[in-house]
Amino acid sequence: VRVAVVGATGAVGRQFVSILEERSFPVDELVLLASERSAGMRIPFRGRDLTVQALSDQGLGGVHLALLSAGGDVSRRMVPSAAESGTVCVDNSSAFRMHPDVPLVIPEVNGQVLDADPRPRIIANPNCTAIAVVMAVGPLHRVAGLTSLIVSSYQSVSGTGMKGVRELVEQVEKLHGQEEELSHPERGALPIGEVFPRTIAYNVIPQCDQFVDGWTIEERKLAAESRKILDLPELRVAATAVRVPVVVGHSVSIHATFSGPLSPADARRVLAEAPGIRLVDDPERGEYPTPLDVAGIDDVLVGRIRQPEGEPNTLLLFACDDNLRKGAALNAVQIAERLYAS
Ligand code: A2P
Repeated sequence: VRVAVVGATGAVGRQFVSILEERSFPVDELVLLASERSAGMRIPFRGRDLTVQALSDQGLGGVHLALLSAGGDVSRRMVPSAAESGTVCVDNSSAFRMHPDVPLVIPEVNGQVLDADPRPRIIANPNCTAIAVVMAVGPLHRVAGLTSLIVSSYQSVSGTGMKGVRELVEQVEKLHGQEEELSHPERGALPIGEVFPRTIAYNVIPQCDQFVDGWTIEERKLAAESRKILDLPELRVAATAVRVPVVVGHSVSIHATFSGPLSPADARRVLAEAPGIRLVDDPERGEYPTPLDVAGIDDVLVGRIRQPEGEPNTLLLFACDDNLRKGAALNAVQIAERLYAS
């Protein structure tokens, strides 16, 4: 397969390259594309250094499969014409996710939509937080019928790309040694960068993306995408998306209600068998998911499974995904694997 990675120098783009190599995806030729700023940069792939090229309008000619993570504007510009000329585009931006003709896919949950005839040429990769939530509740929905979700997220800075990681690191360095002052900070002197609306070091920010009518775009994405992936247009979803000073790994606290009873023990049995899930649920022994435990691995970690007293149809769960891997690049490569498997 002749493959292009668009946004190859970015946080997700780099993961595309290493995951294609790790999983021995049948790549005949790999084209690495980014902005003009990065042209000439070299990125290793299968023991060789490949040179990054500037994305031009002809950039995807002759490419069979494009994995894109260079932002919505680039995807909107490149994807329709590339798909028209035969390139299969797996797009990590939000540009096409809610388009009625574009499948939005987590292979373990709704991979069957990729088997449609004719095969889709544009496939959207879901939002990284939606992937964590739907991976955790999808298997439970199959046995007990999900009716509502209340979610709080704890999202790492790499969700905003490399620039978000740099902003956190710079602020941590600036505030180093000022632990005393942070108990009564001079608010005007706190570092503010260009990515996050408030200081992200030593803080949490209940704003991911812009507000629209009181909800952030991230919160709206989580609701709309969960409904689409689970094929539950009426699912009630309310989310609070929070940015935390973690480099990699998104965490979600989930309050899920089902149409029938589901005990924590049954939920554990179902999740222990579910593909792509690792149950980490022995709190007495200190076993529960954390972002540092999930960073760099493929599975979504799920634990802290509990039932509120007198509510047999409700469960609480805590889950973490590596937002760059299962939350982005790995999921996209799994989509490509399924498309090219047959
Ligand atoms: P570059 O590194 O040259 O800016 P991240 O998500 O980590 O911010 O990375 C975004 C990726 O998208 C980077 O590879 C970036 O390239 C790429 N990118 C951003 N804007 C464009 C553009 N207009 N054309 C091509 N690639 C772009």
